[in-house]
Amino acid sequence: MDVTTIAVIGAGTMGRGIAYASAFGGYRTVLEDISPETLEKSVAWIRQSFDEGVARGKVDAAVRDRAASLISTSTKIEDAIRDAELIIEAVPEEMEMKMELFTIFDKFAKPGAIFASNTSSLSITEMSDVTLARDRCVGLHFFNPVPKMKLIELVRAPLTSDDTVATCREVARRMGKEVVVVKESPGFITTRVNALIGNEAFAMLEAGIASAEDIDKALKLGLNHPMGPFELVDLVGLDVRLSILEYLHSTLGEKYRPNPLLRKLVQEGRLGRKTGRGVYDYTQKKSAEAKD
Ligand code: CAA
Repeated sequence: MDVTTIAVIGAGTMGRGIAYASAFGGYRTVLEDISPETLEKSVAWIRQSFDEGVARGKVDAAVRDRAASLISTSTKIEDAIRDAELIIEAVPEEMEMKMELFTIFDKFAKPGAIFASNTSSLSITEMSDVTLARDRCVGLHFFNPVPKMKLIELVRAPLTSDDTVATCREVARRMGKEVVVVKESPGFITTRVNALIGNEAFAMLEAGIASAEDIDKALKLGLNHPMGPFELVDLVGLDVRLSILEYLHSTLGEKYRPNPLLRKLVQEGRLGRKTGRGVYDYTQKKSAEAKD
């Protein structure tokens, strides 16, 4: 099926990034959220990201200008998905919420539309089981910050059709992204590896082997990671990482048991940049204080 319109459900960090990529790819893009304020902020962020892209020579001014006319917003999910051939949900990682959305997609979407989830670890099959369109359900896992990150993990459930995979590959290509296809399995490729690295970093910090700054520095300068594991978990959210580890622990076994220090920081409300404090403190000068 030819895709001309993409609906993105949820206008948080990932949803707004996916909407950016969609408009960049030349698709009519409907961004949906229940909160008009979130939609307004997201559209401003998308505009700013296009301007940055133009300033850095990564985006043609003409593409930016066309993108502005391609994006619309909605607070009503049925309206948002009505004309879309591809629907991508980017709501929080709660299976019940995702199943509810897939039920709505099944009821109100255009015949033949593809239902995609941006989940970073959960089962596409479980979401697709509430629909009559199991061959058209797929995972499209984007990475934060979406405008700068080049990969999409395309998650193929046992019943996902070749046509669905081919259509999504073409969409990703037009978005300027590379694709890896991965069979459905908890955490796919990247989340699974990243969760272990992050958990090991917390284990080293807890054991007092090195400071958070030095662990970050070691991975950046010694292993060429663009960000240290603590800088990254502060960006992604400690609560997000904890729930991923809990899921991987319950599905893949003991080696994914969340580190107690991570759990403690989450209990204290230290969720990362979004709360002003995670492993590092962003309210004042950045300093490692997870052991305080
Ligand atoms: N539009 C298009 N391209 C843009 C752009 C825009 N608005 N802004 C920047 N770019 C391009 C830049 O030109 C640059 O391109 P080249 O590599 O071709 O030169 C590229 O994007 C990177 O931009 P920067 O130079 O600004 O990037 P940086 O060097 O400061 O690195 C970073 C920033 C990409 C975020 C880097 O620190 C990084 O890779 N960090 C790790 C991020 C990560 O791991 N994310 C995954 C988190 S996990 C996740 O998201 C999944 C989950 O489910 C939890």
